[in-house]
Amino acid sequence: MMIASSIDELQVARRLLDGTVGLVPTMGYLHEGHLSLIRLAKSECDRVAISIFVNPTQFGANEDLSKYPRDLERDLKLIDPLGVDLVWNPTPEVMYPPGYQTWVEVESLTRPLEGSMRPGHFKGVTTVVAKLFNAVQPHRAYFGQKDAQQAAVIRQMVRDLNFPIELVVCPTLREADGLAMSSRNKYLEGADRQSATVLFRALSAAKSAYENGERDAEKLRALMKEVLASEPKANPQYVSCADYDTLEELDTVKGKSLLSMAVLIGKTRLIDNFVLG
Ligand code: PAF
Repeated sequence: MMIASSIDELQVARRLLDGTVGLVPTMGYLHEGHLSLIRLAKSECDRVAISIFVNPTQFGANEDLSKYPRDLERDLKLIDPLGVDLVWNPTPEVMYPPGYQTWVEVESLTRPLEGSMRPGHFKGVTTVVAKLFNAVQPHRAYFGQKDAQQAAVIRQMVRDLNFPIELVVCPTLREADGLAMSSRNKYLEGADRQSATVLFRALSAAKSAYENGERDAEKLRALMKEVLASEPKANPQYVSCADYDTLEELDTVKGKSLLSMAVLIGKTRLIDNFVLG
């Protein structure tokens, strides 16, 4: 397994990767969800690269950049058995050297949902992902469905900027009680961990109503809010039933749709979603 930090090291290592290359971009503190992306990449590509970079430009001023969990040694041990060919672990100075001034921004898709709560977040995401794509030049790139809006925004960027890359979006991995796997679950302490299952319970309630024929999007949103309200530690930031492609809120559910939410459990902000149709 090659490990690169600088752009020069990355370029030397990249030239040694023959055949199709799959990239799994991550911010580290890997969990089973990341490992499942790596395993899928390994099964579909000749070579697999992963990036581990806590990207400062996608964190707002009052967000958890300094607290975001980091443990490279732990990450390397976890991926060791998976046959990863290249790990790119740049520093913030490598990605954003002094004088840096170029940004990639997707417009309307980034405004609702996460975009409405985290101004500037997606500008940071698309900029860093474009830089990762340019540097690694993968044939395929693997992302998790848990960050549904991120996947939609990156899909749009790939289309608009003609990146010759196939995006693969993989299902969310869950703990036994339904909690979606996330590096931020590490922050859930004591009773908060149990309370955090309310996102899964709210989404499941709306999904079964949909499966029983409910197509009124406002009723599905109301049902999710009702379940969230039953959990005293849950403070919802948004609850959405939107078109899967445009992310616009729906009146009536038709075709592929996205149930999604962001909820504070104590101080920990969690997101989750289910796809309908
Ligand atoms: O999903 C993430 O971990 C990050 O947003 C990504 C795609 C690695 C960009 O920093």
